[in-house]
Amino acid sequence: MKAIEIRNKYLNFFEKHGHKVVPSAPLIPENDPSVLFTTAGMQPLVPYLLGEKHPQGTRITDYQKCLRTVDIDEVGDNRHLTYFEMLGNWSLGDYFKDESIKMSFEFLTKELGIPVEKLYVTCFKGDEDCARDEESAKIWKEAGLPENHIYYYGKEDNWWIAGEEGPCGPDTEMFYDTGKPACSENCQPSCDCGKYVEIWNNVFMEFYKQKDGTYTKLKQRNVDTGLGLERMAMLLQGKKTPYDTELFVPIMNKLEELEKIDDIQSRRVIAEHLRSSMMIISDGGRPSNIDRGYILRRLIRRMIRHMNKLEIDLGEISTLIDINVENLKEMYPDLEKNKETIKHVIIEEKDKFVKTLVKGEREFDKEMKKAKEQGKTEIDGKVVFKLYDTYGFPPEVTSELANENEMKIDLKGFEKLFKEHQEKSRMGAIQKFKGGLADQNEKTIAYHTATHLLHKALKIVLGEHVKQSGSNITEERLRFDFTHPQKVTKEELQKVEDLVNEQINKDLKVKCEEMSYEDAKNSGAIGLFTDKYGDKVKVYTIGDFSKEICGGPHVTHTGDMGRFKIKKEESSSSGVRRIKAVLIKE
Ligand code: ALA
Repeated sequence: MKAIEIRNKYLNFFEKHGHKVVPSAPLIPENDPSVLFTTAGMQPLVPYLLGEKHPQGTRITDYQKCLRTVDIDEVGDNRHLTYFEMLGNWSLGDYFKDESIKMSFEFLTKELGIPVEKLYVTCFKGDEDCARDEESAKIWKEAGLPENHIYYYGKEDNWWIAGEEGPCGPDTEMFYDTGKPACSENCQPSCDCGKYVEIWNNVFMEFYKQKDGTYTKLKQRNVDTGLGLERMAMLLQGKKTPYDTELFVPIMNKLEELEKIDDIQSRRVIAEHLRSSMMIISDGGRPSNIDRGYILRRLIRRMIRHMNKLEIDLGEISTLIDINVENLKEMYPDLEKNKETIKHVIIEEKDKFVKTLVKGEREFDKEMKKAKEQGKTEIDGKVVFKLYDTYGFPPEVTSELANENEMKIDLKGFEKLFKEHQEKSRMGAIQKFKGGLADQNEKTIAYHTATHLLHKALKIVLGEHVKQSGSNITEERLRFDFTHPQKVTKEELQKVEDLVNEQINKDLKVKCEEMSYEDAKNSGAIGLFTDKYGDKVKVYTIGDFSKEICGGPHVTHTGDMGRFKIKKEESSSSGVRRIKAVLIKE
């Protein structure tokens, strides 16, 4: 069964069981600078898990684009992907264990046709925070699972939370027995020898883990589930790796045709990182040296390094992107819409990296020889940092180069220097920010408020994909950069302008509230500049039109700002547009 068929079957099945299908949220979380990428289907649903009413009701199902980078250097083995799709179904204070488990069992055995003999499950063993989950085990048995296919584990295996704080609870996980021989007498689902592969996780989310580590009960009992699509496709197709499924076969074949050196691990890294980068860029991500942008930069650069290693002509990137778009567009129509932007961004990043790649490799060779002569088995953190800082080598690239020469890198040493470096840039940014505020006067304050109005108006007129990527204010004008794949039309600009003027004419009240970052996020405020936030943030609300986390200051009423006029709309960089606008006092 192809991945897209599994997705459709899943959504249809849960729709039949009263769930509303909602489309995937973007890979780059909206209004949530606290996480770099969406890593689970539940993330966009957090406010609803905490008790807010979801407009679509209490039963939701979706397919969510996810990216996890903890395993970035394990890509190339058989299991790890950075980008993946998670199918999920949610009860927001609706059904609980009984219905959830029975639906999962029915879906796996009837819809996907997995024989019961191949299914194993695990349940929570119980501890001082939460009782042993015998209820789930009982439901599994009632559904038809033999008792000896049920295992109990503690929090390390059967408890789910995204990060350190938030909604969480015990889970029951489903495993597929691949039929591989057991690795030992003790081989069981928690073993990672590869015999048992986790396929689905149902979290019974009735707790909230506080910052201090204690648990409280949520207002409602929820179910949050997640099924990894690529992995399911691989198992149902009887393949050994996701790279052998239809999602990757065309790109893997092309790479094999292009390569001069045969190396399947490198081929997989290229195929994986290309798909992930394309998905990130399509959702508005751009390479940079911090946060999200840095992850994207690392994915693209590692891919380029491996293409070089296989002696694949880097000029072929465009063809490789075409192949992926063609293959994946049915599942991700945005890829086709954003194809030119994707090409532009990846090729631009390749061009930047290529300039330093050869020099950096030479530098690495020199340092490696030196280290070997000194009898060392590890490349110094300072050298890893220098390769990063001067030649743009992400640490995993240096680590691979080291491994290819039977050496390791001092990652801890690198990370220490990297942190110090980031801290310095951050302080610089704060200085600049503070400096900016010191210059505030009536005019710049009005432009600041106009920027918020413009931001919101662009989201309304062009779509939710619009994200601020830069802003600059002088006494004469505002300049606003935002993600958008194509030129904004005259008609669209007119609409934006009208919408902003409408708000100005309404003389809306501008309100400032201080609240915790969490509350700000949950209230739906737009947030930016991830790491400038402290514990408390200011949220500026303009009537009921706009709500943004921001240091201010702003006007108290929009009425006296003047008439808003867009002077220019142009490209700023690939996929990013720039608007210059003025306020005219008449
Ligand atoms: N949120 C759960 C997971 O990611 C379902 O495994």
